[in-house]
Amino acid sequence: MAYLIDGKKISAEIKDELKEKVAVLKSQGKEIVLAVIQVGTNPASTVYVNNKKKACAYVGIRSLAFELPETVSEDELLALVRELNVNTEVNGILVQLPLPKHINEDKVIMTISPDKDVDGFHPQNVGNLSIGRKGFVSCTPAGIIQLLKRSNIAIEGKECVIVGRSNIVGKPMAMLLIQENGTVTISHSRTRNLKEVTKRADILIAAIGKPKFFNAEYIKEGAVVIDVGMNRDENDKLCGDVDFDSASTVASAITPVPGGVGPMTIAMLMTNCVEAAE
Ligand code: GUN
Repeated sequence: MAYLIDGKKISAEIKDELKEKVAVLKSQGKEIVLAVIQVGTNPASTVYVNNKKKACAYVGIRSLAFELPETVSEDELLALVRELNVNTEVNGILVQLPLPKHINEDKVIMTISPDKDVDGFHPQNVGNLSIGRKGFVSCTPAGIIQLLKRSNIAIEGKECVIVGRSNIVGKPMAMLLIQENGTVTISHSRTRNLKEVTKRADILIAAIGKPKFFNAEYIKEGAVVIDVGMNRDENDKLCGDVDFDSASTVASAITPVPGGVGPMTIAMLMTNCVEAAE
């Protein structure tokens, strides 16, 4: 049976470390403030945003909530972001995605000051990551690196196969694994013979958004399996991109859903907020 990589426990450790750091900063008169903007009332976004606010409260970060109606114009949203950019009390700005269709997401991301872009989505931060310079890193892939490191799983020299090529997960994940001296393959929905590719992986990162897609047939004996998926199965139960029961018969270590990658994303957002203040 595979070792269970406990994201909930590791994220709690990180948040406790941050809590101490934030308390020290507070004693020096520095308060950390995160502005969280949600447009509309997408139920999934509301859950994510509430979890982020809860984590802020735990760590000791003040969160400012901006709940804008679905009908808000792009100009109004951009004006708010610009206002927060110049507000010296605000350290981090987070605009929850997705945004309504009439708003250009790219334009909004580009407008966030790179120094306050705690999501790590701004092209300046993405560029810095790709050339190995300091900057904010997208929270989910950064969290996966922490999961591996804190579970004593070596990356150096390993065959790392990512399935999924999104700007938020797949691409930054590749950059981070290269930085850790992994040998990296990015595959995706159009990859031919996907099974052959994923079977090469010592470390498999599943991020294609298909419920329970990766069963034991896709996985090499002894591989480490990281499940980024967040889907609903036929019974409306939360599940990942990995068929956990099947995969855990061949994997040496595996993340559950929920309780794997998800909590790590929030822990890394908190890490980025503290970094923004420092
Ligand atoms: N929507 C889904 N994931 C994310 C995330 O990490 N950040 C933001 N801002 N929106 C999201």
